[in-house]
Amino acid sequence: MENIFLRVERIGKKFNHTTVLNTVSFSLTKGESMVIQGPSGCGKTTLLRCLALVEEVDQGRIIFNGEIVSKPGFIKRGYGRNRLEIGMVFQQLYLWHHLTVLENVSLPLWLRNGKNKRLADEVAKEQLALLGIENKANDYPNQLSGGQRQRVALARALVHSPQLLLLDEITANLDPETARKVIGIVEKITATGTSVILVTHSHLSLASWSYVLFFDGTAWKMSGKKA
Ligand SMILES: Nc1ncnc2c1ncn2[C@@H]1O[C@H](COP(=O)(O)OP(=O)(O)OP(=O)(O)O)[C@@H](O)[C@H]1O
Ligand SMILES: [Mg+2]
Repeated sequence: MENIFLRVERIGKKFNHTTVLNTVSFSLTKGESMVIQGPSGCGKTTLLRCLALVEEVDQGRIIFNGEIVSKPGFIKRGYGRNRLEIGMVFQQLYLWHHLTVLENVSLPLWLRNGKNKRLADEVAKEQLALLGIENKANDYPNQLSGGQRQRVALARALVHSPQLLLLDEITANLDPETARKVIGIVEKITATGTSVILVTHSHLSLASWSYVLFFDGTAWKMSGKKA
């Protein structure tokens, strides 16, 4: 049997009686990654927020590893042992500007996972090194370039070893060269077994991506290697 990791079944979402998401369905097996594309306002961020379990759906359901985690009136939250680890990076990044790069990445780790500070700092430093910004650990976000800030936000999402990484137009404010570098880093992450769902307007090589989910003006459609 196919090992479905994430199953999205006909989810729908309305804001003030306006339908934003209409019966969106797709599924990913473990480690598969997907790109989401579509015009402004078609619901890409709303879809990611539903997947991140910060927005409730009005219709349908979301199933992770066979367990319903979201349906109308219900979102599974909590910090149980079997909790699904989801990382999300928003376009605005939401870095803490009064904290150093290292503190930005390390703080959520020791606050949330109860790791001690020294251990959290070590994990955070390793992650910064993997993304090539360990030399910026003691700088503040406003001392960094746009691409470096993106990498800090990515590091902060990655320190929790997410099974699912949701990225919302993270290259929109970057010059094309830096955007290509950041996408290159994201494509390397897809090769590590983490499932990445990326909202982007950039053209990507499909090699690292199993599917493209796109809004064609009336409906959500799926294309890709196995669609
Ligand atoms: N909290 C909210 N309350 C009311 N309307 C909302 C809310 N969030 C989003 N919307 C509306 O839902 C629609 C889809 O918004 P969303 O942010 O998901 O679009 P998007 O595809 O991400 O667009 P963009 O490419 O511009 O980021 C928009 O019309 C928006 O105004
Ligand atoms: Mg958006």
